[in-house]
Amino acid sequence: MTLTFDPHEIAETLYHGQFCPMFIDGKDVPALSGEVIDVVDPASGRALATVPRGGVEDVDAAVAAARRAFEGEWSKFTPYDRQEVLLRIADVMERDWEKLCVSDTADMGLPLTRTMGNKRRVIGMLRFYAGQATALHGDYIENSISQSMVSFTTREPVGVVGAIIPWNAPTAASIWKIAPALATGCTVVLKPSEDAPLTPLMIARLMQEAGVPDGVVNIVTGTGREAGARLAEHPDVNKVVFTGSTATGKTIARAGVENLKRITLELGGKSPLIICKDADIDKAVPVAAMAVYAHSGQICIAGSRLFVAREIQDEFIEKLRDFARGLKIGHGLDDGTDLGPLINRVQAEKVEGYIAKGKAEGARLVTGGARPEGADYAGGNFLEPAIFADVTDEMTIAREEIFGPVISVLPFDTMEEVVTRANATPYGLAAGVFTRDLGTAHRTVKKLKAGSVWVNMYHAIDPAVPFGGLKMSGYGKEGGVEHLQAYLDTKAVWIQTE
Ligand code: NAI
Ligand code: MG
Repeated sequence: MTLTFDPHEIAETLYHGQFCPMFIDGKDVPALSGEVIDVVDPASGRALATVPRGGVEDVDAAVAAARRAFEGEWSKFTPYDRQEVLLRIADVMERDWEKLCVSDTADMGLPLTRTMGNKRRVIGMLRFYAGQATALHGDYIENSISQSMVSFTTREPVGVVGAIIPWNAPTAASIWKIAPALATGCTVVLKPSEDAPLTPLMIARLMQEAGVPDGVVNIVTGTGREAGARLAEHPDVNKVVFTGSTATGKTIARAGVENLKRITLELGGKSPLIICKDADIDKAVPVAAMAVYAHSGQICIAGSRLFVAREIQDEFIEKLRDFARGLKIGHGLDDGTDLGPLINRVQAEKVEGYIAKGKAEGARLVTGGARPEGADYAGGNFLEPAIFADVTDEMTIAREEIFGPVISVLPFDTMEEVVTRANATPYGLAAGVFTRDLGTAHRTVKKLKAGSVWVNMYHAIDPAVPFGGLKMSGYGKEGGVEHLQAYLDTKAVWIQTE
């Protein structure tokens, strides 16, 4: 991608260490405690900005604002009005797309070519939900009790939605949580990750510009333990939508029990990607590599268990190694960067811990896994893309979500065997298979226990296609028409006509 602007220059104008307030009831506010959190550029370690360290009282204020808006001005918006607002948000976000992407990249490291490349999906999502806003309806139901009784259903917004998102895709995750809420008439309090809070703050202000009334979308920055936990347990929050780790997802589900919140959880994965012996190897190699290295492995759907047919294993690993070595590691804002940094030092050390464990448990490190050297990498959390061969199912690196640029190659002999092994995980988010045989493709898809299965491809996500996990990868779908159903309640109405 050739850029027509200088991303570093935009980054300088956006953030130069200043304080970025949070957004409650349409106003810029600090935390009531006055405390702040430092936000750093993971590629350089440089301080970008500070944001409020929102706590219980700030979340309570945001939920109160969201409740007032839900019952007040927002409830007067017709589906057409909400559709118009969503379409205007799409327009202003499209206008400011470069700025939004520079902000995301500066904040969490993903190469700009990747954040920019999400445009069709993210802007398209807003327009998709705008379309859905005017397509909501109840049903007229013929009852068997009496012809003088009329029975029908209405679909009503669940109310105040608490959204908690991770750091790996702040723009896309914000829109995926907020757009269906706006389409259905709900209001939102969103807590971004403490590791990447900046772009959601920008998005909320663009939504205000697009005509979203005060209190409909509120952003509370803060830590998970403080602001996140309060939002998850808040008695006046009707629904929580969460994307993040399985451990935190369980905590959130527990916190929601008290007022029986509706909950959608999009959690972790250890997704299998199966390369059959008849696969088109040259097509499969770059896809298998980027199934993990996209976003330096920090992506829930990472195809981190790469099952390769034993007959083609040597050739495949050699080509995968060459591909990995050709990837350019660097600052996400630099031209030509393929692989950005990991989000923070803790995450980089966690991944290094997995690499050490892989070696200690007998896997063979084919390439990568070290910190790249040189002035360009000073202060950043960079790791070379790693490939382990001779991995067995019991090894830690084959079982746990690493969330880093590490591929484990596991050889297999038969399709029956590989499907059983692929499913032998607590997770069930995604899976992939490469084969040129249509029968093999269909049979394998049918047996794989995962929320999304890709054949001869990986990674595709679209607003119109449902996405979400099985098993410990969570429940509830985002995307598709069923997404909106999770933001609606059904009311049954009976009328005696005689
Ligand atoms: P996390 O799941 O703890 O954080 C995600 C969001 O939840 C953040 O906004 C955080 O502030 C919030 N949160 C944390 N604890 C909370 C609580 N008790 N109540 C309510 N909200 C809470 O993930 P984190 O700490 O960023 O990363 C830890 C590990 O989780 C990573 O190393 C990775 O393995 C995994 N992870 C997986 C993701 C996925 O999409 N599969 C996304 C992010 C992290
Ligand atoms: Mg955490």
